[in-house]
Amino acid sequence: MVLTAQPSPIPLPRVRTLPRHVAVIMDGNGRWAESRSLSRQEGHRAGAENLRTVIERFGEHGVEILTLFAFSTENWGRPRAEVEAIMRLATRFIDRDLEALHDAGIRLQHLGDIDGVPSGLAKRIRKAVERTRDNTRMTVNLAFNYGGRADIVAAVRALIAEGATAEEITEESISAHLTTGALPDPDLLIRTGGERRISNFLVWQAAYCEYHFTATAWPDFGVPEVDAALVEFSRRRRRFGLVPEDNGAAE
Ligand code: FPP
Repeated sequence: MVLTAQPSPIPLPRVRTLPRHVAVIMDGNGRWAESRSLSRQEGHRAGAENLRTVIERFGEHGVEILTLFAFSTENWGRPRAEVEAIMRLATRFIDRDLEALHDAGIRLQHLGDIDGVPSGLAKRIRKAVERTRDNTRMTVNLAFNYGGRADIVAAVRALIAEGATAEEITEESISAHLTTGALPDPDLLIRTGGERRISNFLVWQAAYCEYHFTATAWPDFGVPEVDAALVEFSRRRRRFGLVPEDNGAAE
């Protein structure tokens, strides 16, 4: 996969058990910038610059699905200039990187409420999803204007609108109607920037995933950090609520 001008010379570590689906809360842009006497917008810019590197590395490892939390429904409450800067960065990311992502075999999908996204950006996101829909190498979900509880509410409403009976509202039917649809749940959720919370991201889908919290701010989360998160994941024993003897059967 060639997304960056110079792919990392760091050899890929062997990861025994790879997560199929990794989700990332890209936090710490603001503090990264403030600690360098830069504006918060500069932090988001550095964060956006980091996307290619991280997508490429997860792709090299063979991770099938990468879900990136780029903008939450709560983020609208930030100062207007900051919100506008993030919209511009997302627009530029698609304008500049869409063809490289497409050439690398990446299918881009959007998670969240597209109707609430400014029209210019929404148009680009729809175009990117359409352009890359048949790619099979890797799926990158951009969660933009996404909230986990709203996702669950929308799924239940959709079921009711379809005329589902109470018995037909099941874990499986709700999962299928979430914005993540047929995708498998994340196996690993990474949060950069030092906080240890889920912040309304994939609250339903993350029920059994492993968590990796790191103090590293998102703009500094590069190839060694991706490798370390995957190596740590491979050492975890996932039990899905079962006793260890049953582990093999559950996995
Ligand atoms: C969290 O850092 C980050 C965000 C709210 C926005 C994430 C945006 C990007 C990575 C770049 C733009 C997106 C795309 C798709 C190109 P924070 O501002 O909460 O940092 P802080 O906790 O240090 O204040």
